[in-house]
Amino acid sequence: MGRLTEIGGKRMPFLRWSFLRFMLGMPRFLKTWQVGDGREDALARHVTEHAKPGDVGDAIRIIDNFCYGQSFMVNIGDEKGALLDAAIERCRPRQLLELGGYCGYSALRTVRVMPDDAHLYSIEFLSANAEIAQRILQHAGVADRVTVLVGSLGDGGPTADALERAHGFGAGTLDFAFLDHDKNAYLPDLQLIESHGWLHPGSVVVADNVRIPGAPKYWTYLREQEGRTWRTIEHRTHAEYQTLIKDVVLESDYLGQSTG
Ligand SMILES: C[S@@+](CC[C@H](N)C(=O)[O-])C[C@H]1O[C@@H](n2cnc3c(N)ncnc32)[C@H](O)[C@@H]1O
Repeated sequence: MGRLTEIGGKRMPFLRWSFLRFMLGMPRFLKTWQVGDGREDALARHVTEHAKPGDVGDAIRIIDNFCYGQSFMVNIGDEKGALLDAAIERCRPRQLLELGGYCGYSALRTVRVMPDDAHLYSIEFLSANAEIAQRILQHAGVADRVTVLVGSLGDGGPTADALERAHGFGAGTLDFAFLDHDKNAYLPDLQLIESHGWLHPGSVVVADNVRIPGAPKYWTYLREQEGRTWRTIEHRTHAEYQTLIKDVVLESDYLGQSTG
């Protein structure tokens, strides 16, 4: 059955039962990082069976259709994904970092728009999700453009050390970061990135889900830093794969360390 989401070219309010059911199960998801009914693995099977091999755009299309038609998932989705695409196209980054890879959807979108000589490092906490992302990226033919690392920047050193020792992270090398992991870790991880000196003036950081589930400390920090170390655009948008629940995506340009 089709979705009635557009009339006369306008998006219609649209809230899915599967989204509401997912929201009720959110506390469990935020502990385990999989929905618990095998849908992440089902997605990987669906992509490898239905998307054209070696075609990133087709993999994205197949994932969006799966999430609208079969199982709701917490990918950034098509509406907010367009904001991510535009920020990457504006920034023209060469070294990119993603926190929270899940099944590889945002990595696919990132690879599709980043310059040919760019490389994405995707940090994923749960090895089962990292493995699913690798399968999908492999099928889409872009596994060589993304390094998926199992870990977390907040692990006290090993992941940040690996980025510096094995992957060329250093002073001013990081052009773009996408935060889409544990919402309570957004602020400490941004501050860790700042303290390592990886950013340079003009680096861009995009953060998803700032309104829902919400990252209030991160949002407050960027408002306090406005015009000092950061300049931020607040994109008012909707949570993934529906049009009634509102969300906010922040797109922040790093201005450099304040001297004052
Ligand atoms: C919302 S999903 C990411 C969606 C993905 N960015 C996309 O749009 O396709 C959040 C992911 O972050 C992972 N995660 C949670 N805490 C993390 C942490 N501290 N570091 C890295 N990954 C984390 C979870 O396992 C989960 O796969």
